[in-house]
Amino acid sequence: MSSYDHLNSNNGNSNWLENEKRRSRKSKIIVISSLIAIIIVIVVGVSVGVTVSKNSKHNNASTTTGGGGGSGGNSSSPVDQPDPNDPSNFVKDPRLHVSFYGMAYTPAGSQYPACGNNLSSVITDIQLLSQLTTRIRLYGADCNQSALVLEAIKQTKTNVSVYLANYNEPTDHTVYTRQKAAIQAAIQTYGTDHILGVTVGNEYMLNYLNANGATDPNSATGNAGAALLKADIDDTRTMIAGMNLPKKIPVGNSDAGAYFNTLVLEDIDYGMANVHPWFANVTIAQAAAWTADFFNTQNVQPAALLSNHPQMSIAETGWPTQSSDLGDATNGASAASEANLQIFLDTFVCQANQNGTEYFYFEFFDEQWKDIQFGGVEGWWGLFHANKTLKNIQIPNCPLS
Ligand SMILES: *[C@@H]1O[C@H](CO)[C@@H](O)[C@H](O)[C@H]1NC(C)=O
Ligand SMILES: *[C@@H]1O[C@H](CO)[C@@H](O)[C@H](O)[C@H]1NC(C)=O
Ligand SMILES: *[C@@H]1O[C@H](CO)[C@@H](O)[C@H](O)[C@H]1NC(C)=O
Ligand SMILES: *[C@@H]1O[C@H](CO)[C@@H](O)[C@H](O)[C@H]1NC(C)=O
Ligand SMILES: *[C@@H]1O[C@H](CO)[C@@H](O)[C@H](O)[C@H]1NC(C)=O
Ligand SMILES: *[C@@H]1O[C@H](CO)[C@@H](O)[C@H](O)[C@H]1NC(C)=O
Ligand SMILES: *[C@@H]1O[C@H](CO)[C@@H](O)[C@H](O)[C@H]1NC(C)=O
Ligand SMILES: *[C@@H]1O[C@H](CO)[C@@H](O)[C@H](O)[C@H]1NC(C)=O
Repeated sequence: MSSYDHLNSNNGNSNWLENEKRRSRKSKIIVISSLIAIIIVIVVGVSVGVTVSKNSKHNNASTTTGGGGGSGGNSSSPVDQPDPNDPSNFVKDPRLHVSFYGMAYTPAGSQYPACGNNLSSVITDIQLLSQLTTRIRLYGADCNQSALVLEAIKQTKTNVSVYLANYNEPTDHTVYTRQKAAIQAAIQTYGTDHILGVTVGNEYMLNYLNANGATDPNSATGNAGAALLKADIDDTRTMIAGMNLPKKIPVGNSDAGAYFNTLVLEDIDYGMANVHPWFANVTIAQAAAWTADFFNTQNVQPAALLSNHPQMSIAETGWPTQSSDLGDATNGASAASEANLQIFLDTFVCQANQNGTEYFYFEFFDEQWKDIQFGGVEGWWGLFHANKTLKNIQIPNCPLS
């Protein structure tokens, strides 16, 4: 535990912590502004829909370019699927490579209670994701996303496996139980073949500490939050054990890299840590090495000291390509831009593969709901635009063996 205190004080980058806090404070606004956001989403959705359909009318004579076309060459789908009834037969995009250890993913329209996701949209995502990675991680289980992803994997017949997740909250236990039921139903329906684990908690400790005016995850306040989180982790373990499944399903947790509580780490099979050079005001030139060093000293080394040896991975790392306001257009050191995303991809991905680092790249596509609710760079971390077309970047080509 003392090593934790050391590492936390050794973090040395209060700006990064501040930014994590700012993100967390913003997350509280989700609830308050969700009604307003729903209305805006509908308005934006309608205008985007109109724009996309206009584009597809203009574009449908030229659907032969890579990644362009759609079902039968006449829809706005970003993946060519010759037979609309066979999602397993789709045209591979030569620009994509299975070079990523894993990818962070939330299907569009998976924010409770608005929801609005659907199978055909998730199938398109899995067709694209399967050309980048064999592993994805979800953040929560609301809006039927566990079943949609597993159904899409089944129908596309792709070699993609998923960490399901329960985005629980300290103050409302129905949020946990609702998602627990969805996860259990999905495992019952789809079996365990494509399930890598169940993650309980996303930035739970970060949010708990901020809400209770504390910063040290191993303080008394931190341990009180950890006890609540552990109860849900243990309950998920009990639920899985009671299902008599043919293989062991690991149970883990994800949090900001500097916010792991030791009691939680001692209770999990795996830990996923957000490690963000952007929020640490690191230059793009230093970003990949900083990420590797932070993860190693703050997460891998402390976990290795524990008798249960939780398997640590990077839950999120990436680089944004733009900001919705001028103030966040740089992190004080480097710009949010496609050119810098390219540098991060070129310096991080293949090196991390060589180093044997387990990471989930953040992220698959731009998330419009985040831009609407949080502004700044929050909605602009995708390799793909929100419309599922690739940004002006080159995907590294270093397939994992
Ligand atoms: C686009 O596709 C529709 C349906 O196949 C067709 O009626 C229309 O003529 C096409 N437009 C162009 C510009 O090719
Ligand atoms: C798309 O093309 C297929 C055949 O290629 C056709 O059956 C279908 O009606 C078309 N859909 C639209 C919306 O034009
Ligand atoms: C499916 O979900 C996507 C993402 O939320 C949305 O853009 C699309 O309009 C939905 N399609 C239908 C038919 O509801
Ligand atoms: C599927 O992906 C896993 C890694 O997630 C890999 O070990 C396995 O070889 C892949 N299988 C096929 C058939 O490509
Ligand atoms: C969840 O998604 C699966 C797969 O598409 C579907 O079979 C099921 O009916 C959905 N459940 C709900 C409640 O929408
Ligand atoms: C890979 O490992 C080397 C040697 O420890 C280190 O210098 C580098 O920063 C690491 N890079 C990544 C992206 O993991
Ligand atoms: C870090 O970046 C933020 C956002 O641009 C900025 O407000 C802050 O002053 C920067 N801090 C340092 C120490 O550069
Ligand atoms: C997708 O979105 C990007 C960014 O907004 C835009 O530049 C591009 O034209 C769009 N592509 C299509 C096919 O709508």
